[in-house]
Amino acid sequence: MAFHSIALIFVFQLLQIPEIDAKVSSIIVFGDSTVDSGNNNFIATVLKSDFRPYGRDFDGGQSTGRFSNGRVPTDFISEAFGLKPTVPPYLDPAYSIKDFASGVCFASAGTGYDNVTSRVLSVIPLWKELEYFKEYKSRLEGYLGRKKAKKILTKALYIISMGTNDFLENYYVLPHRSFEFSPEDYQKFLVGIARSFITEIYHLGARKISLTGLPPMGCLPLERTLNWGNCVARYNYVAREFNQKSKALVEILNDELSGIQLVFSNPYYILYKIIRDPQSFGFVTAATACCGTGRFEMGYLCNEHDPFTCTDANQYVFWDSFHPTEKTNGILAHHAARTSLAIFK
Ligand SMILES: *[C@@H]1O[C@H](CO)[C@@H](O)[C@H](O)[C@H]1NC(C)=O
Repeated sequence: MAFHSIALIFVFQLLQIPEIDAKVSSIIVFGDSTVDSGNNNFIATVLKSDFRPYGRDFDGGQSTGRFSNGRVPTDFISEAFGLKPTVPPYLDPAYSIKDFASGVCFASAGTGYDNVTSRVLSVIPLWKELEYFKEYKSRLEGYLGRKKAKKILTKALYIISMGTNDFLENYYVLPHRSFEFSPEDYQKFLVGIARSFITEIYHLGARKISLTGLPPMGCLPLERTLNWGNCVARYNYVAREFNQKSKALVEILNDELSGIQLVFSNPYYILYKIIRDPQSFGFVTAATACCGTGRFEMGYLCNEHDPFTCTDANQYVFWDSFHPTEKTNGILAHHAARTSLAIFK
């Protein structure tokens, strides 16, 4: 043991590795509504949530454009790393590059890996999130200077969270991709896009990256409503398959890209456990959501004047028919912080 430590110190001195400071300096987010902190407020889409009752448990009761009653998982993760309690959306003109230096969100509700998915509701495609990131990078360089900006971008934690919409908004409801691909091949197609995306952000300076897997998407209240109240086993199966492929991708890229620290964060089992036994996590139900009847409402259908909306969202696993409550988001985020993301602490 002692010998190993001495040997290690010796190696570090030999290589002149500067002081090792593993701390994450900022959180940079790409993805869909699971992590969008309000970018859709600033684009022309019908998929919005910048009105009541969205955000009613957020600080000040603001409807920020997050698809929940409060914060999303990436907000909790940022806080868990000692950073801000919320990650600001890049398109919001109320924030400046100074604010974005310690965290920025490029996510857009309704998007996916597949360009076709983002077109369904006219939201920001993944390639465009990447363009915004490039723009952000040059703004940051202008603000802090190249050297300091590079340091921040190297020490940032990049979180990628999407994929559910590719299946539930696109593949299983529209003819285009399901005609072209088998479910298996479509998964491979999406993982291929994730691969190019991760490789591109790596070449732009990203090193600490978390690729988030799919939730048990057959148990989202909307899908249950369409299936007589039961989880759709086929969708959950596809989610697990896709997660296996994503995990394999993470292993490959860790070998391929030198200096990268890529992890796979899997929300599937923890969320499935909550859905199976909501009471043991302090919830009352996971079958229906808080908003409205809890069976189909989300976006504009989830509105302030609905008399059915619950009074205490903490009793519900889901806030609207497609998105978890803040309480669930907190559990998912802390689970990730304790497991996959622990190496970055
Ligand atoms: C998605 O669209 C962008 C912009 O048109 C294009 O560069 C990219 O290759 C497309 N991605 C795929 C996987 O087709």
